[in-house]
Amino acid sequence: MWRPQERIRWKPDPGRWPSAVEAARSRLFSPIKVGPCELEQRTWVPAMVPWRASEEGFVTPQVLAWYERFAQGRPGAIVVEATGIRDIPSGPLLRIGDDRFIDGLTQLVERVRTASSGHTRVFIQLIDFLAIRRRPEPGKFFTRFLRITKEHRRALGLDDDAPEERVRALLAELPESRWCDVLSAREYEDLTMGYRERVTDTHLPHIAELPKVLPDLFAAAACRAEKAGFDGVELHYAHAYTMASFLSALNTREDGYGGAMENRIRLPIEVFEAVRGAVGADFAVGCRMLTEDCVEGGSGLAETSWFASRLATAGIDFISLSRGGRFEDAARPRVGEAAYPYTGPSGYECMPQYISDARGPFERNVPSARTIRRAVRAAGHATPIVVAGGIHGFAQAERILREGDADIVALARQSLADPDWFEKVRTGHGREVRLCEYTNYCEALDQKHKPVTCKLWDRLDLDEPGTPRTPDGRRRLVAPPWGGRRR
Ligand SMILES: Cc1cc2nc3c(=O)[nH]c(=O)nc-3n(C[C@H](O)[C@H](O)[C@H](O)COP(=O)(O)O)c2cc1C
Ligand code: SF4
Repeated sequence: MWRPQERIRWKPDPGRWPSAVEAARSRLFSPIKVGPCELEQRTWVPAMVPWRASEEGFVTPQVLAWYERFAQGRPGAIVVEATGIRDIPSGPLLRIGDDRFIDGLTQLVERVRTASSGHTRVFIQLIDFLAIRRRPEPGKFFTRFLRITKEHRRALGLDDDAPEERVRALLAELPESRWCDVLSAREYEDLTMGYRERVTDTHLPHIAELPKVLPDLFAAAACRAEKAGFDGVELHYAHAYTMASFLSALNTREDGYGGAMENRIRLPIEVFEAVRGAVGADFAVGCRMLTEDCVEGGSGLAETSWFASRLATAGIDFISLSRGGRFEDAARPRVGEAAYPYTGPSGYECMPQYISDARGPFERNVPSARTIRRAVRAAGHATPIVVAGGIHGFAQAERILREGDADIVALARQSLADPDWFEKVRTGHGREVRLCEYTNYCEALDQKHKPVTCKLWDRLDLDEPGTPRTPDGRRRLVAPPWGGRRR
């Protein structure tokens, strides 16, 4: 993972923990309306892919155990991981693109309700993403994948009618230092990063028609989520995926869905309206979006504040804010591996690690969230704003809420490190919290599509009977129980 040059080492500092009485009086542990549902407290476990679904995208016993463990900590809401809305093979990523997925998802909802004794609301994040391929082996790229053009012939000093086989053979012999001279920028990227579709590839019919197909795909997925018993859906408009790429300033589509801000928000609003129209009034429909793309030429705060206000005007029930996590600045993958959007500077902004710059890894997204919330309020909307990023202490969370920077506080890695954070803090046992060290060990597992666990607990009590473990038996799959749990 990319790290800032300064390499300052930061330690989480949760400050003073509250007594149970103080917690009961706090804003953090006060209820909030999120569209049609009420959260008992302003705490949130944001979406985290744990790589526990089956190869076919079904809920597995490991998925159930993962969410059950979060639900035992009774946060205000849990957002189930990014779940694919299309009925296409996507490896072990949870899917909701067909009715056959509803049964497993229904069990998941029931598991959360039972484990939290009905205290936790449960949403599911709906995602669409475009094709991405592994970085090719150069020989294969030149001999098989590259479409040979007259530009290649000319760059090699050949006649326009030189046989294709000859062009390929010469290209395959080129030293790496010459690839740039002979290939177009896009071909060079396909070779060095792996082929990746963009929303601007409108010469491809399936990309051109995204605005036609996505509203119905999202709406059908949301209906399945409703059938499965979820309290609502979170439309994934963040990070490196399709909808965020429509919002990005890098979207130059010329079909009315790119370029000017009004055009870039068009599809996200159309998707929202299709979803809203397809589900009942008591079902929440929110979204996750970026405060800033954090890449050159990407959207900045002025634009995202306007987007958030437009979504609020359209009637969205909540806006959860993340930042960065884009493909444009991702690190070059090894041959045979795919690029990963959290490996560059924008990825760092999304999941900042303890080795950081002078700003540090904590609350990095809070100033931007404040700006967006103010813009939404100035537009006359009370839409709840959720913020995530390096939040681990009660005092920190309480200050964010009291100062009006956000309405709900999301803890991703901190709740992975200790799913009981919410119950421990609420009942005056904050000192027992297992603090996240922001090592990003979990994130490295995510990157390799390996079952995500936390380094602070995945080797503890491995021999305890009934402890679910990774297939190699070396890591436990869920955090150990909190011995002092009081209900
Ligand atoms: C293992 C892992 C998986 C994640 N998966 C998702 C995801 O599916 N959808 C999403 O919007 N964010 C995802 N995130 C980002 C988190 O929701 C969160 O925004 C980020 O970790 C910053 O919050 P934190 O500092 O509290 O961890 C993931 C983060 C981690 C560590
Ligand atoms: S592995 Fe654990 S301690 Fe390290 S960042 Fe992830 S949750 Fe935090």
